[in-house]
Amino acid sequence: MDPHQTAASPGGDAGGTVASEAARRRTFAIISHPDAGKTTLTEKFLLYAGAIVEAGQVRSRGARRRATSDYLAMEQQRGISITSTVLQFSYRDVVCNLLDTPGHRDFSEDTYRVLAAADAAVMVLDAAKGIEPQTRKLFEVARARHLPVLTFLNKFDRPGREVLELLDEIEEQIGLRATPVTWPVGVAGDLQGVVDRRSGHLIRFLRTTGGATEAPVVVVAPDRAAAELGPAWAHAHEELGLLDAVGADLDVPSFLAGTTTPLFVGSALTNFGVRLLLDGLIDLAPGATPRLDSEGELRPVEAPFAGQVFKVQANMDRAHRDRVAFVRVSSGRFQRGATLVHEPTCRRVTTKHAATVFGAERETLEEAYPGDVVALVNAAGLRVGDTLYEGKPVRFPPIPAFAPETFATVRVRDTGRSKQFGRGLHQLDEEGVVQVLRDPDGLDPTILVAAVGPLQFEVFRHRMDDEFGAPVEMLPTPHVLARRTDKDSLAELRRQHGVKVLTRADGTLLALFESPYNLVRLERDKPELTLEAIIATS
Ligand code: G4P
Repeated sequence: MDPHQTAASPGGDAGGTVASEAARRRTFAIISHPDAGKTTLTEKFLLYAGAIVEAGQVRSRGARRRATSDYLAMEQQRGISITSTVLQFSYRDVVCNLLDTPGHRDFSEDTYRVLAAADAAVMVLDAAKGIEPQTRKLFEVARARHLPVLTFLNKFDRPGREVLELLDEIEEQIGLRATPVTWPVGVAGDLQGVVDRRSGHLIRFLRTTGGATEAPVVVVAPDRAAAELGPAWAHAHEELGLLDAVGADLDVPSFLAGTTTPLFVGSALTNFGVRLLLDGLIDLAPGATPRLDSEGELRPVEAPFAGQVFKVQANMDRAHRDRVAFVRVSSGRFQRGATLVHEPTCRRVTTKHAATVFGAERETLEEAYPGDVVALVNAAGLRVGDTLYEGKPVRFPPIPAFAPETFATVRVRDTGRSKQFGRGLHQLDEEGVVQVLRDPDGLDPTILVAAVGPLQFEVFRHRMDDEFGAPVEMLPTPHVLARRTDKDSLAELRRQHGVKVLTRADGTLLALFESPYNLVRLERDKPELTLEAIIATS
């Protein structure tokens, strides 16, 4: 037998079971600008799925965040969630895996990686604000991953912008054509209900105290709605006529291809439209989809177990100082205790300590199916992008990440702690907290760290100090962006003013630029140079 192979899982598949379990998974992330309502909507999904009885028991925003996912001291101090994990709940006959993207203003590598593990995304927009910078950035990642995106226009309980204008903005700014599934009757701030365009019926919502419990709905036939609502209904119908005229109708193939977005309106706070959105997600978003392997072949979900590490987090449990690798199952059935092969090293990995993790809470996980996320506790040596499999060897392509935008030199404050410093650099680089960059020729001893957003630097500084006992000094460098390059471009890039070429631990060469104009000029004048914005993480 090939030494890289392990025996197929005991009991084989169950191919049929795996396929049907994969089909009933919905693995998705919510993307939004901070404050658009992601946390509130997540809580309301849990409420409608029956996973919590009452929403908003913890009223304060900070406290609510603390209640879900924090474990680093820094998170507690700031009341934000720095790490991302997964929340699993059942709704109807479907298992939803909601991947939590960090909820802070800053942007990190994590966000990109989490989206790599999702099969769909829900984009939440504040109806008073429309597309905001972070939504745009996150959407770019979703687009790069060809993720189908549903849109929720939130905060309709208070004054907002014209919906037709918001549809134009979505199309203009992110190139996604919105196809409304529900449409508001009455203006934002005085929402009378929504029309379900599929049936033509009016859905009216009743408020509950603080939106703590489900909003009761009344379904009203069009004739009665017209009589009861008069001008508001007539106005909504006029707008619906416009939508019909331009053909802005729900279209599943183009949604799955990522060119149209089914749009829902409502208010996460008062629960208006939440169930319609959740039902839309279940009905429209795909089940666990077959993933491409590095040969470009789609791996069927019924194939033997294979999964990819999309996130590694150390010290989630401060009492144990452990390291958790999050694996998205791509095919087959995962069973706790199975021995898997770690693709890059061919090492065997035991999975006795498999768990589901949300924030500080952990539960042992016995089995998982395509679309699910398995947290492997203390699985040393697993890195983001690595593949784990059973049976014939398989490898998934590296998880792409966007180029870093923040850079600093770093050195240990006390040279007596150099060993700890080296260990910390290695660990935090491996986890992807920062990228550690060095001179490719080893002549200049200066070490740079790079990240997508500045908050990563704070996490890095804090952990170097707190976990590795190696406080660091960091000085920002004048660089503002980076591009992946190669050896053939190296000599020319070194001749350029305001450009520095450094290497990562995995050998990837990065060209750092002090001004975006340098880059634009170079791209124009020297098109033969390799300068790529998307950088593979492994
Ligand atoms: P985020 O995770 O996207 O950052 O947003 P989050 O859900 O925390 O919501 C941000 C603020 O917007 C919160 O108010 C929240 O209550 C409010 N919000 C969310 N959905 C709606 C909605 O549908 N309508 C209205 N009117 N407000 C909404 P906060 O005052 O910052 O916090 P809190 O004290 O209410 O918890």
